[in-house]
Amino acid sequence: MEHDAQVTRAWVLHPDIYGADTRREASFALEEAVALAAALPELEVIGSTTVRLPRAHPGMLFGSGKIEELGQMFKANEIELVLIDGPVSPVQQRNLEKAWKVKLLDRTGLILEIFSDRARTREGVLQVEMAALSYQRTRLVRAWTHLERQRGGLGFVGGPGETQIEADRRAIDDQLVRLRRQLSKVVKTRELHRKARAKVPFPIVALVGYTNAGKSTLFNHVTGADVMAKDMLFATLDPTMRAVQLPDGPEIILSDTVGFISDLPTELVAAFRATLEEVLAADLILHVRDIAHPETDIQAEDVQDILNSLGVGEGARQIEVWNKIDLVEQEAAEALRARAARDDAIFAVSAVTGEGLGALFAAIAGALEAEKSEAQVDLAFSQGKQRAWLFKEGIVEEETQDESGFHLRVRWTARQARKFEAL
Ligand code: GTP
Repeated sequence: MEHDAQVTRAWVLHPDIYGADTRREASFALEEAVALAAALPELEVIGSTTVRLPRAHPGMLFGSGKIEELGQMFKANEIELVLIDGPVSPVQQRNLEKAWKVKLLDRTGLILEIFSDRARTREGVLQVEMAALSYQRTRLVRAWTHLERQRGGLGFVGGPGETQIEADRRAIDDQLVRLRRQLSKVVKTRELHRKARAKVPFPIVALVGYTNAGKSTLFNHVTGADVMAKDMLFATLDPTMRAVQLPDGPEIILSDTVGFISDLPTELVAAFRATLEEVLAADLILHVRDIAHPETDIQAEDVQDILNSLGVGEGARQIEVWNKIDLVEQEAAEALRARAARDDAIFAVSAVTGEGLGALFAAIAGALEAEKSEAQVDLAFSQGKQRAWLFKEGIVEEETQDESGFHLRVRWTARQARKFEAL
């Protein structure tokens, strides 16, 4: 059989281990893993299987009968790469690769591939490289511990294996130090950019949400921009920002962020956080949810957990956007609309049909308006430039004048107040 040489034929396996600490239904987990794999253009997912296991076998992950059966299926389908949706120890990886004569990638490896494929800013690239190196390093350490345990009773010290691994570890450590140094520089420049942006008189609205919730589609609808919106996870690893004029509302900066995923491997959290920095600077957070997804509540919890760990938490103003209402069956959709109508921080919308977007935009404008405070500003006659700026911003409520100068009552956002201070 002839195949396209450009694509790698892949098979996705989801090990469903009894009693494992998972909240997710196996079929959804498998579906998500397949969607993750599809995010890599060079892969062609030929098939996927959930494998039920009473327990993980330490050496091979699966039992020998299962390994044989899967191996025959891989052979028949000319599979080159097997993706295992879960952690696979270095030993298991080596053994399975040998048994199946395929390359094997576990969940962390897959997500790292996707991150590195999508990272666009210098910082994103560095973070991903660091995560990849740390991942590799742990594998070396673990492999080494394993070898050491095997050799333990024989009293060997050193040996070729150990020396090689030690050298590899040192090389990785050196590279990590270099990357960390570069990263701290990039972060500093980025901090400067953020400060510069803080002077922008527009409030920042950040879109966050579970992967595939529809953030990019909503972003496009609002901005009319051609930001990638497709059925591809992680289409946006680094935040995309754009200034937009809301219909009948203020001008805002809208920021699209990378999608959240469940069970993000811990070594990837830093890389992911780097992509979410913009959220911390946001005046308003729109939490976009795929309300038609069977696990929408668990997804929302995952998102909230990460926001909390970032320090966004309950303090920041948030609006929940219940997207894809058009995909919900009629009766259930009615119930959701009614539920949303009772809560002024929830909006049932469809980024595709446009349902509910008008009300959402009005709420965004309203929420930003509520952020404003009143202040009294006294200006000398010589401060004409400052006075002109206040009027240009359209924030003067009342002005009086006496021999000492102008006295103005203004209503402004914290951002405008800071900008005025800087004048
Ligand atoms: P990530 O970049 O992975 O975080 O995804 P995202 O949240 O930006 O999702 P995206 O906008 O790429 O949308 C994912 C898929 O859902 C696309 O195929 C969209 O066409 C579809 N979609 C988005 N919003 C709606 C909606 O309101 N209704 C329907 N039917 N489909 C939608």
